[in-house]
Amino acid sequence: MNPEQSTTTVDDWRSLPAEQQPDWPDPEALSDALTDLASYPPLVFAGECDQLRARLGAVARGEEFLLQGGDCAEALDGVSADQIRNKLKTLFQMGAVLTYAGSVPVVKVGRIAGQYGKPRSSPTETRDGVSLPSYRGDAVNGRAFTARDRRPDPERLKRAYHASAATLNLVRAFTTGGYADLSQVHAWNRDFVRDSPAGRRYERLAREIDNALAFMRACGVTDAEAVRTTEFYSSHEALLLDYETALTRVDSRTGGLYAVSGHMVWIGERTRRLDGAHVEFASRIRNPVGVKLGPGAEPDDVLALVDKLDPDREPGRLTLITRMGAGRVRDRLPALVEKVTASGARVAWVCDPMHGNTFTAGSGHKTRRFDDVLDEVRGFFEVHHALGTHPGGIHVELTGDDVTECVGGGSRIGVDDLRRRYETACDPRLNRSQSLDLAFLVAEVLGEARRAKEARR
Ligand code: PEP
Ligand code: CO
Repeated sequence: MNPEQSTTTVDDWRSLPAEQQPDWPDPEALSDALTDLASYPPLVFAGECDQLRARLGAVARGEEFLLQGGDCAEALDGVSADQIRNKLKTLFQMGAVLTYAGSVPVVKVGRIAGQYGKPRSSPTETRDGVSLPSYRGDAVNGRAFTARDRRPDPERLKRAYHASAATLNLVRAFTTGGYADLSQVHAWNRDFVRDSPAGRRYERLAREIDNALAFMRACGVTDAEAVRTTEFYSSHEALLLDYETALTRVDSRTGGLYAVSGHMVWIGERTRRLDGAHVEFASRIRNPVGVKLGPGAEPDDVLALVDKLDPDREPGRLTLITRMGAGRVRDRLPALVEKVTASGARVAWVCDPMHGNTFTAGSGHKTRRFDDVLDEVRGFFEVHHALGTHPGGIHVELTGDDVTECVGGGSRIGVDDLRRRYETACDPRLNRSQSLDLAFLVAEVLGEARRAKEARR
C-alpha cells in the first residue's frame, strides 16, 4: 500500500485546532520518524477492527458486555513477559467472573499495545522553581524531571510502535495458544494471594466453571472453539495525531481508511471538541471509536458528536465512555442518555469509574477510593435501568501487579500504604485484587438485572 495515498483524506485534521500535541523541537527529526512509521506494517488488520465493531454492536444492543482495561500509561520499559501476562491474567479472570456469575458474553479489550501518549492539564511542570515540559507519555518524552528526559523526541514514536508490536505479539500468543483456554481458570489464579478474599472467592467460582465444563463434555460438547481461545482486542487514546496518521491505511478489501495502530481508539475528555482535529480524525476512520465524556458534557454537544462520528447510526461504531465521578453520575448521565437515545443512535454506553474520582492524598500521591469506583459503577447501572437503556460495560485502569495506588478494596489498602508500591507512570490503577473485587460486584449487578428481566417475562 502506498503510504502517501493512505494519508490524503485522513490528513484534513491538520487545518483544525489540535490540542495536546507535543512541541517537537526538531521538525526534521519528526518528519523522518513519521516517514519510517508510514512504511511499517500495520499492527492490526481492518477485518479484526470490523469484528470488534460487530461485537460492540452487540454491546450496544444489550447482548454483550464490554470489559476494557489496562494501564493509564504504558511504559516502554514495562514490556516484559511477566507484566503483560499479569495484566492479561487479570483481564481473563475478570472476564471469567463476568461471564459466569453475570451470565453474559464479555468482549475483552485491553488498554494495551499503544497507550503511550497522555494529555496533560498543563504543558509545563514546575518543581523548586524549575519549569520543564510536562511528561506526555513514553511515545513523546521521559518521566524523569530532567531537561534531557522531558525534551520531546520523535524517535520515541518509533519505539512506541515497536513496543506495541512486541506486546501485541505476546497477547496474540496468549489468547490463541491455549493460555486463554477456560480450563486454565485455576492456573490464572495460581500465583495470586490465595488468602486474599478476592482470590478465595475466585477459586470457588473457578471450581464451578470446571464443573460446568465437565458437564458440557459429558453432554458431548467437546470441540468448543469459544472455550479454547478468546477474542482479545487492543485499544488506546488516539492522542498523537501525527503518529495515528502515519499508521492509518487504506483497507485493500473495501477502500476504507483504518487506524492500524490498534483495534479501537478513543478520544479523550480534553480533546473531544466538535470542531477540533481529534474528532475530525476519528470521523475519517472505520475503526470502532470511543469518546470520553466528563461531568461538563452537555446533551446537545454529545448529540453533535454522535452526528459527526456515527452519522449512519451503526451500532458498534461509537462507544460513549462516561466518567462523571461517583457524586455526579446520577445527576449528569440521564440527560445525555435520553438525548442520544431519542436521536435513534444505538451507541455502546460504558462506565469509566476512574477518571472522575481522582484526588491527591496528603502524602502527595494521586489516588482513587475503591468505594467511589464502585459507587460510580452502581450509579451508572441505576441510571440505565431507570431509563430502560443498556449499561454496556466498564473501562478501568488496572494492572496485574500488586501495586498500592488506589485505596480500599478487600485488601484494605490505606493512605499510608500508597508509598509502598506506587509505580504508575500516570494515574493510579486498581491492583489485581481490587480488579477482581470490582468484577464480582459488576457480575452481581448484571445477574440481578438478568433475573429481574426474566421475572418480568
Ligand atoms: C485516560 O483515559 O487516561 C484519560 C486521560 O482519560 P480522560 O480523557 O477521560 O480524562
Ligand atoms: Co488515566
